[in-house]
Order: sequence, then C-alpha cells, then structure tokens
Amino acid sequence: MARAPNILFGLQLPSRPPFDTWAPTSVSRVGAFVLSFRRKLCMPRCVVARRLHFNAAHRLHNPARSDQWNQETFGPCNNPNYHGHNYELDILVEGEIDPETGYVVDVAILKRLAESTIVAHLDHKNLNLDVPWFKDRLPSAENIAVFCWEQLAPRIPHGRLTRIRLWETPRNYVDYEGR
Ligand code: NI
Repeated sequence: MARAPNILFGLQLPSRPPFDTWAPTSVSRVGAFVLSFRRKLCMPRCVVARRLHFNAAHRLHNPARSDQWNQETFGPCNNPNYHGHNYELDILVEGEIDPETGYVVDVAILKRLAESTIVAHLDHKNLNLDVPWFKDRLPSAENIAVFCWEQLAPRIPHGRLTRIRLWETPRNYVDYEGR
C-alpha cells in the first residue's frame, strides 16, 4: 500500500500529529495537508480482538526462597497441591483493512491459530508440570501472557499482534505488548 511521504518541499515532517503543539502556523498547515493526503492514500487501520478460554492449574512457588517467604508472597497461589483458574485470553491484532475482504485479519483464522498454538498447550493442564516452557519460570498471569505472545506473534498472517490481555479472574488481568 502506497504511503504519503513524510518529506514535503524538503521539510522533514513527523508522521503523527499533533503539529500544533510546536510548529509555526505555516508548517502546521502543511502538516494538516499532508495528514489529510495520507488519510486518502492509506487504508484505515483497526484493532481486531478475539477472546479465548482455557482452564489450567498452577502453583506459584519460588524454590530459591523459603516456604515462609513463598507463603507470604503468593498466598493461596502457593497452595502445595496446586489450584485452578478459569483464564480468559484476549488477543488484539492491529493493521490496515484489506480492501478485498474488509478484514484486518480473519478472526476465524486467529481463533484456529490461538487454539492450536496456545489453548492446546495450556487447557486442562498443570502449568508447572505439563508445560515445559514453565519449567524454569513461575506460571504467573504475567508469564502466561508472555508465553501466549511468543506462541502467536510470529504467526499472525495479516496485521500485527499488539496486545495479549489475560484475565486470571473476572477482576484481575495483565496486559503484555511484547516489550
Ligand atoms: Ni493462582
């Protein structure tokens, strides 16, 4: 997809607004013109989201620390015999709308991809014992979100994975944006 240049009459213009916060009026007008030109040339962008669900058991326990430290730090999540969560996983993909399909990415493809690369590995599993990725990592919501990102980000066929939101309970979630 063609993009409007960021250089006009030898002026290097930033690709994003606002210009008005710093630029002289004339440059601001040129900036507004370039922005409207860019809008006409570029396809609109959207974020597409898909929610998935899985159940898993885990135990948060750092073997390098004492039992007392683990109990105080992780509370009920340190229960020696594990415990389960009903996880909700939101996958957000951002990109240009394909004029041929009207989609950023087909959510049916996204669903199949997430089921085969994430849910198949985590659902009804004991994360500590069954998933090798957590062998040396605590299976916290944060680390599970990183796992989901690593599984999915390189495989998105159109657009770009921008966020993994993992709900561990209806009140607690973590966001991971690949950073
Ligand atoms: Ni827990």
